Amino acid sequence: MTAPVRYELIRRCKDTNARRGRVTTPHGVIETPVFMPVGTQATVKTMAPWELEELGAKIILSNTYHLHLRPGEDIVERAGGLHGFMNWSGAVLTDSGGFQVFSLSGLRKITDEGVAFRSHIDGSPRFFSPESVMAIENALGADIIMQIDECPPYPASREYLRTSLDRTLNWAKRCKEAHRRPEEQALFGIVQGGEHLDMRREAAEALIDLDLPGYAIGGLSVGEPKPLMYEVLAHTTPLLPADKPRYLMGVGAPDDLFEGVERGIDMFDCVLPTRIARNGTVFTKNGKVVLKHARYKDDFSPIDESCSCRVCRTFTKAYIRHLLKAEEILGLRLTSYHNVHFLLKLMENIRISIEQDRFLEFKREFYQSYGYTGQ
Ligand code: GUN
Ligand code: ZN
Repeated sequence: MTAPVRYELIRRCKDTNARRGRVTTPHGVIETPVFMPVGTQATVKTMAPWELEELGAKIILSNTYHLHLRPGEDIVERAGGLHGFMNWSGAVLTDSGGFQVFSLSGLRKITDEGVAFRSHIDGSPRFFSPESVMAIENALGADIIMQIDECPPYPASREYLRTSLDRTLNWAKRCKEAHRRPEEQALFGIVQGGEHLDMRREAAEALIDLDLPGYAIGGLSVGEPKPLMYEVLAHTTPLLPADKPRYLMGVGAPDDLFEGVERGIDMFDCVLPTRIARNGTVFTKNGKVVLKHARYKDDFSPIDESCSCRVCRTFTKAYIRHLLKAEEILGLRLTSYHNVHFLLKLMENIRISIEQDRFLEFKREFYQSYGYTGQ
């Protein structure tokens, strides 16, 4: 059986665990480390697929929980899966819904069997089990599909994390057994275990025994201090197989991208660029800018003088600020476009810096200009 997703190592960083690689999927080749824009409901909010393509996005993320509730996986499947439904020809990854059940739905009850919850749309009772989630993800047809897991809150007691991890590992095994399209869709396992390094190790070892085509690290960026997240990453990433992709879930602030890459992560996703864009905040090489601030009302320069994106080549801060203040939809489209460009370009520059043996130098330059002090 040929694996649907393969990882090829291109170059190791000479100073850190950073690695430049390539992930081959049924819908194209992804140069890594990579940032995956989030398209929760089969759309990266405000962006058309041709815009994502223009920005060089090769893979986007979508969500089992949302698409199951609306429009339903049967509709997506009849449209030719997510690729056909949204007319995106690049790669797609679906998160399993475990995380969203915990963050969005009301009353929920978790047992070894699965998780009972109520839809955040109409309150209807629902149940996700490893078997039902795999059936949904098989129907949605993404290139990479995530196991159902529990993303425990922070902080949580060791006893809670113990029970939760046993469940997540058992669910990984059941997901593998229930997966009906292993030749077309790569099932990734998710390493949980909170801040406990022994549990992280146990989780990594148990998932490696399942011989999955890729591994994610979950349960981070859930409110813990950053140094703790970096410590868990530094410990966990090296435990994962070097010949498979490693994905850090839900992380995408610029400093976390550098720190994750430095510790051996290949894939990241985060709603941050598009979410902050919709409240008028944009990334620049000198840090974040809140465009609605009065100081920009007659600022006729672009968001970022050094940005090569179409928005920065075309519009001024004063104009985009006006659109945002007037609640014009174009404003949201322009800030989203620029922010996604910013993170994709940042990752491209990180990849180049690894190839050129100057990752740490590039990191230092970026931090200095962006205004980060720590690390
Ligand atoms: N997104 C961010 N963190 C997580 C996690 O721990 N599990 C899943 N399934 N998705 C996530
Ligand atoms: Zn720009």
